[in-house]
Amino acid sequence: MANLLLRHVYKIYAGTEKPKKNAKGEAKKRSGDYVAVKDFNMEINDGEFIVFVGPSGCGKSTTLRMIAGLEEISGGELYIDGQLVNDVDAKDRDIAMVFQSYALYPHLTAYDNIAFGLKMRKVPAPKLDSEGNQVVAIDSKKVKEITARQKKLKKQYTVILKDIEDCGEEESNDLTYYTEKKALLEKRIQEAEADLEYYTSTPVPLFNYVHMSKKEIDEKVQWAAEILGIEELLDSKPAEMSGGQRQRIALGRAMVRGPKVFLLDEPLSNLDAKLRTAMRAEIVKLHNQLKTTFIYVTHDQIEAMTMGTRIVVMKLGVVQQIDTPTNLFDYPENKFVAGFIGTPQMNFFEVDVKRDGDKLDVTLEDGQTVKLELSELRTIEDKYLDGSSHKVYLGIRGENIRVDSEGVKATLTIKEVLGNTTQLFLRLTEKSQDFIVSVPERNALTPGECVNIKLDEKFVHLFDRETELSIMSREYGNK
Ligand SMILES: Nc1ncnc2c1ncn2[C@@H]1O[C@H](COP(=O)(O)OP(=O)(O)O)[C@@H](O)[C@H]1O
Ligand SMILES: [Mg+2]
Repeated sequence: MANLLLRHVYKIYAGTEKPKKNAKGEAKKRSGDYVAVKDFNMEINDGEFIVFVGPSGCGKSTTLRMIAGLEEISGGELYIDGQLVNDVDAKDRDIAMVFQSYALYPHLTAYDNIAFGLKMRKVPAPKLDSEGNQVVAIDSKKVKEITARQKKLKKQYTVILKDIEDCGEEESNDLTYYTEKKALLEKRIQEAEADLEYYTSTPVPLFNYVHMSKKEIDEKVQWAAEILGIEELLDSKPAEMSGGQRQRIALGRAMVRGPKVFLLDEPLSNLDAKLRTAMRAEIVKLHNQLKTTFIYVTHDQIEAMTMGTRIVVMKLGVVQQIDTPTNLFDYPENKFVAGFIGTPQMNFFEVDVKRDGDKLDVTLEDGQTVKLELSELRTIEDKYLDGSSHKVYLGIRGENIRVDSEGVKATLTIKEVLGNTTQLFLRLTEKSQDFIVSVPERNALTPGECVNIKLDEKFVHLFDRETELSIMSREYGNK
């Protein structure tokens, strides 16, 4: 169980030139360097199921690998349960990772694959005196550890003070960043001081570190096998198993470690569609049972929507929006998120909007106009309602457009009958792109026919044409 805090996290892959660290010990961008993750900020609460989603190459795996400790953090801070872990080894982070490729040992049985990590690992066992009572004393090891931590923090603190001095009086992003960092360091130094005071004055129960007993290991393996429904597979080798079974073994191997955080990187990508849907539900169930923090990476927005309690949408190394699945769907903060979440994709029209009393006049690319009720639309930023014309994107999902006896005229190009719904591909002009209208009923329309459509105002999204940012709030109604 753990909470995580990512503050201004960067990953910069060095270009052809050798990466050089500046005085602050943080990598600076150099020519040819590639910024794979840019200023990632997020607080993850204990027990959340977080999904990172975005197109291939947007930095999902890199972020996950930085959290796991498999990839160095180029800039910023990562905290797990309040502890800065930038410099903590992967094996000491109490994190388990499951990959798309399973990464099982082919020569070991499922049982031994699951047990492997446990056999290698040492766990705390009470330190006993000659009479069998647990020794309670000053923990000198802990005192040493905290003293070292304190020393390191104080060193960082002097560097920060120097950085702030170097920034001068003027307000700048650097200054804000360093000032924030200084406050954090002060807090951490105080915490270390309090810890030190406690451990130097208070005797605590002591532990030795020993290998787990065979029995303990067996109990854990059996526990995981039962939850995953793989008891009968424990004697099989990976080659004898299906993809889904192998992925369960990989999950089991992660579970028995009792990690604070589970990291899963596209774990279902190698499975066929049907199995993927089934495993999706199983992983959600597993999360409900374990109640541990999960971070799950996928490029599949349906996986993200069905699994995440919160979703992080990324594009080109930059976080676009962090929100619940329904908020992402209902209130996308930019055009990219709007287009990425939801199938079929949201339709976008390049339009001009102009306020006319309590209506919004929308002029489509082919010159047709629509009047939308401002009171029915989500609240629009004032500057777009100043009575002059503004270029925006109008976004609307296919299910929020209906075929009517009057309204905007469009030509049907293709009709797809999906059974439960019918998708109409329509086009405003010969040259314009198709947009999709998804209607619940079947109909007798045929390609080439002209139809009239109406937009449901409640579900209209507007984005600035330049910034592509939403210009609407989450509330409804316009004054
Ligand atoms: N070791 C590396 N060296 C240089 N560039 C890398 C390295 N690993 C990944 N990248 C680049 O960083 C970007 C993000 O990669 P990644 O995090 O794997 O994306 P995702 O998991 O979202 O598909 C990609 O453009 C990728 O080419
Ligand atoms: Mg990846």
